[in-house]
Amino acid sequence: KETQAEKFLRQHMDPDTSTVTASYCNKMMKHQNIMVGDCKLVNTFIHEPLPDVQAVCFQGNVPCKNTKPNCHKSSSKMRITDCHLKKEAKYPKCEYETQQLRKSIIVTCEGNPYVPVHFNGSV
Ligand code: C5P
Repeated sequence: KETQAEKFLRQHMDPDTSTVTASYCNKMMKHQNIMVGDCKLVNTFIHEPLPDVQAVCFQGNVPCKNTKPNCHKSSSKMRITDCHLKKEAKYPKCEYETQQLRKSIIVTCEGNPYVPVHFNGSV
C-alpha cells in the first residue's frame, strides 16, 4: 500500500521539470493518477530537488490549515506550478489552468524519518 509520504511524492514532486507548457497540468494531473472519481480543485507541483523539499520539515514551524501543529514553511522561495481546475470542467474532463510561480511552500510533516505528507499551501 502507498504510504502518505509516497503519495506526497506522486502528487507534488516533479524535480526534473524547470519550464512548463500550458498543457502541463492537464497531462500531469492524469499521469500522476491524481483524479479519483472527481476532479481535484487545486494541486501544486514542486520543481526542486527532493532533499531541498524534505529539508522544509526542519524549517519554520507554522500553523496548519487543519489546526494540526506540524506544518513547516520553506525559508526560501521554490519553483512550483499551481494547477487550478477550470470552472466549467466536469469529470472525467478535468481541465486545468497552469501557473508557474516562485513561492514559499507549506507542508505537513509526519513520521520517523520526519518527511512531508501533505501540501498545505504556498505563500
Ligand atoms: O486546502 P485544502 O485542504 O482544500 O487542500 C486539499 C488538498 O489540495 C491538499 O491536501 C493538497 O494536496 C492540495 N493543494 C495543493 N496546493 C494548494 C492547496 C491545496 O496542492 N495550494
